[in-house]
Amino acid sequence: GTRVTVPDIRARKSGEKIVCLTAYTKPMAELLDPHCDILLVGDSVGMVLHGLPSPVGVTLDMMLLHGQAVMRGSQHALVVVDLPFGSYERGPDQAFKTASKVMRKTGCQAVKVEAAEGVAESISFLVSRGIPVMGHVGLRPQATNIDGGFKAKGRTADERERVLAEARAVDAAGAFAILVEGVAPDLADEITATVKAPTIGIGASKDCDGQVLVTDDMLGLFDWTPKFVRRYADLRALIDRAASQYSEDVRTGRFPAEAEIYKLRTVRGS
Ligand code: KIV
Ligand code: NA
Repeated sequence: GTRVTVPDIRARKSGEKIVCLTAYTKPMAELLDPHCDILLVGDSVGMVLHGLPSPVGVTLDMMLLHGQAVMRGSQHALVVVDLPFGSYERGPDQAFKTASKVMRKTGCQAVKVEAAEGVAESISFLVSRGIPVMGHVGLRPQATNIDGGFKAKGRTADERERVLAEARAVDAAGAFAILVEGVAPDLADEITATVKAPTIGIGASKDCDGQVLVTDDMLGLFDWTPKFVRRYADLRALIDRAASQYSEDVRTGRFPAEAEIYKLRTVRGS
């Protein structure tokens, strides 16, 4: 195929910016694919599409179904699927079992894991067995119950050191890219300068090697606007207007019109 590859992404360190968006469904993947280097099937799908309060309730089955849909809708971008909470943290064996299943059942080219302390060992275990891994450092949504919510990272010297250590460990373990979420720009820049892997920022710094946004946020489909989101469309308003017009047309009998109904002559006998 002609998809972007893991070495293509690695080669973009300090080069042409890496463009990444999330995708969860086939039609959205089709629309985004020509414009993106990476499509991320994020576990944000739980909050964005399923109404969960955090990513903690996302299941492996959900990730498999959305990963399959995104693969069906894309042909150009590298597709990365998040490993959900509880499916990899126990250690290398659990991580390999989960990641290999995700690769086999979806056909995606890589997985992403949140890089809490100890996960680096699992990353090198996967990479040495043919599974490319993206690491996710800084604000880690799967850790919201420890952090007391979605909190930007790097407010104290200790916390900065911890995030830097996470990034260094993920890099040394062989991650092909590192997603950096919710940190001050100077910390993001220090990470980018320190690690060999390209960094992909969200709420981080313009000088990361690439950027990612949750597609539903940037399209105005998901009802929250953190500081780091730029809204490129207001699809909630468009959908609200469309549904309102439809309901009015149905109630007033203006829909369907002549041209919108089948005209079939009933054929007798034969
Ligand atoms: O799940 C997700 O969408 C992510 C974001 C940080 C892009 O991991
Ligand atoms: Na995620």
